[in-house]
Amino acid sequence: MAYPGGKGRAYQRLINLMPPHDVFIETHLGGGAVMLHKRRASRNVGVDADDAVIARWRARADPTVELFHGDAADYLTRYPPVPTALVFSDPPYWPGSRRRARCYSCDYTEDQHHRLLDVLKGLSCPVMVTGYASEEYDVALDGWHATEYPNCTQTGLVTEKAWTNFEPPVVLHDYDHLGMDFREREALRRRRKSHVKKLQRATAMERNAIFADLADAFPDELKLAARRFDR
Ligand SMILES: C[S@@+](CC[C@H](N)C(=O)[O-])C[C@H]1O[C@@H](n2cnc3c(N)ncnc32)[C@H](O)[C@@H]1O
Repeated sequence: MAYPGGKGRAYQRLINLMPPHDVFIETHLGGGAVMLHKRRASRNVGVDADDAVIARWRARADPTVELFHGDAADYLTRYPPVPTALVFSDPPYWPGSRRRARCYSCDYTEDQHHRLLDVLKGLSCPVMVTGYASEEYDVALDGWHATEYPNCTQTGLVTEKAWTNFEPPVVLHDYDHLGMDFREREALRRRRKSHVKKLQRATAMERNAIFADLADAFPDELKLAARRFDR
C-alpha cells in the first residue's frame, strides 16, 4: 500500500527516534509503513478517516492492529492515550507546502492542522508528528524537538521533519533499523550478531560472568533493556 507522503522510504529514521512504549497509536495510518515495520507494542492502534484505507487494513486481517475509522483529533480526545503510549501522527501535508493540489480523498484544512496540533500538545505521552518542514508547524510546536530526514515521495526527494515532544532517545523501542542507510544498518546487524554468536559459543559460566560485568558497567542501561522482556 504505497501512499502519497507515505513513509515507505523513511520509516527507519522514524523508528530510530521512538522510545519504548506499551501502546502505539498511528493516527493517520494510510499505508502504515511505520506500523508495518516496527516491533509491535502490547497494543497497536491505527486510525484513519478514509474508509478505503480502513477497508484495506481490515482485509489484512491482522489481529495485532486495532483499527478506528474516524478523525484523528476526535479519537485522541475521546480516548486519551496512557502516559506509556507513543502517538505517531503523519497528517496530510500543510496546504501551502504540498506540491500537488490534492492527494487524499480525506485532506486537511489549516484549521484541522491547528486542531490536531492543539490536541497533540495536550497529551501526556510521547508524541511524534511528521510533515514537510513548515513554519506554521515550527511556530505551533515551539519547544518541541525537530529532526530533519529525507523522504522519497512521488514528487521526488524531499526534506521532511519529525517534531517530537521529547529529545531523541538513546533507549529505543526497536533497534532493528539502526543506522543511517542500508550499508550502515547491515554493518550494525553483522556486529550485533557476531557479539551474540561469541556469547553463544562461551560456556554458561563465562557468559554469566560477562553479564555480571555488564550489569556492573552499565546498570541503568541494562535495567532499561530488560524492561522490554518484563511483560
Ligand atoms: C500522509 S498520509 C499517511 C501515510 C502513512 N504514514 C504511510 O506511511 O503510508 C495521511 C493519511 O491521513 C488520513 N487522514 C486524512 N484526514 C484524516 C483525519 N481527519 N483523521 C485521520 N486520518 C486522516 C488520510 O486518509 C491518509 O491516509
